[in-house]
Amino acid sequence: ITTRLIVDNNVNKTQAYTQAVEKLIQGEIVAFPTETVYGLGAIATNEQAVAKIFEAKGRPSDNPLIVHVGEAHHILKYVKDIPQKANDCIETFWPGPLTVILNAIPNTFAPNVTAGLSTVGLRMPDHPIALELLRRLGQPVAAPSANRSGKPSPTTALHVEKDLQGRIPLILDGGATGIGLESTVVDFTVDPPVILRPGGVTAQMLRDVIGEVIDPDTTTVEDETVPRAPGMKYAHYAPDAPVFLIEPDHEAVENAITSIHMKHQKVALLAPDEFKQYHADWFFSLGNQQNLETSARHLYAHLRSCDDTVTDIILVTVPIKTGVGAAILNRLEKAANGNWWHS
Ligand code: TXA
Ligand code: MG
Repeated sequence: ITTRLIVDNNVNKTQAYTQAVEKLIQGEIVAFPTETVYGLGAIATNEQAVAKIFEAKGRPSDNPLIVHVGEAHHILKYVKDIPQKANDCIETFWPGPLTVILNAIPNTFAPNVTAGLSTVGLRMPDHPIALELLRRLGQPVAAPSANRSGKPSPTTALHVEKDLQGRIPLILDGGATGIGLESTVVDFTVDPPVILRPGGVTAQMLRDVIGEVIDPDTTTVEDETVPRAPGMKYAHYAPDAPVFLIEPDHEAVENAITSIHMKHQKVALLAPDEFKQYHADWFFSLGNQQNLETSARHLYAHLRSCDDTVTDIILVTVPIKTGVGAAILNRLEKAANGNWWHS
């Protein structure tokens, strides 16, 4: 059985943290909120505990986990060196949605955390519950997103419960997460640094701090050789019905819905408010077209909501590619398995 403990100002918070710390020290795994998505954590030095994460998620073992710390300076104990550019980014963006890949000191973490790589991904989350848990525990916590592998990452404790009910002992429920997309993963073991996964910290924000950054999404040279985070090769973020991407064009969207209905199929539409008028069978608002942060925050919950409908097809309008739009588009292309709508 899975216990979900609401952590807010009205309940005994201390007791929730005490239980979570106890479970972790006993080698159990615990789900907790971060500012990006919910994580499923284990003490990063406990190989058996970390193995439980892979088992609960159904995660391939060659996909390494991110190690979460409660204080930035803790990483000095875990990595061989911190390049100046990594240091500048840590100072600017931590706590926050940036994961830095650095060379790990061998045997610092359980081998299954890094999937046998000599590097490790580290991040300090910007969420009061995650930080309080990490500080009370005083140890690094390996945590991927707390979803079953292949499903959209969880942005509420109820999403975690839906995916992992009966597979994990404890969820700390801190309500909905703020950003709604996973952290930006940047490899600082190479120079210039490379964005392995786009996220809340955008390419432009990184460039403002450290200058040149390689962004495979906008790099055409060497496309085949640019490394990506190992996790990016797997099917991801996918609801049950097939997802198709479409430009946010009124005529295109209207025509798509009409032609789907002519085939006696049902369609769910994820799009900005202004597309509500086109009589999709289900409409999930991505908010104001201009406000990418709102789209990011609600995207995964909406993709999950599609699984509660009997829709045949899910149509999603794509955002502009600037700012956090790049991260949204990256996740959408995976959810759609690269498929665009053609009438
Ligand atoms: O926002 C987030 O990053 C959330 C919260 C819980 O912190 N975590 C998260 O973890 O998204 P996960 O496991 O779902 O994604 C981790 C990504 C994967 O794509 C993985 O391949 C990559 O980071 N990664 C981890 N360690 C790596 C390493 N040493 N080298 C390259 N990529 C790495
Ligand atoms: Mg994940």
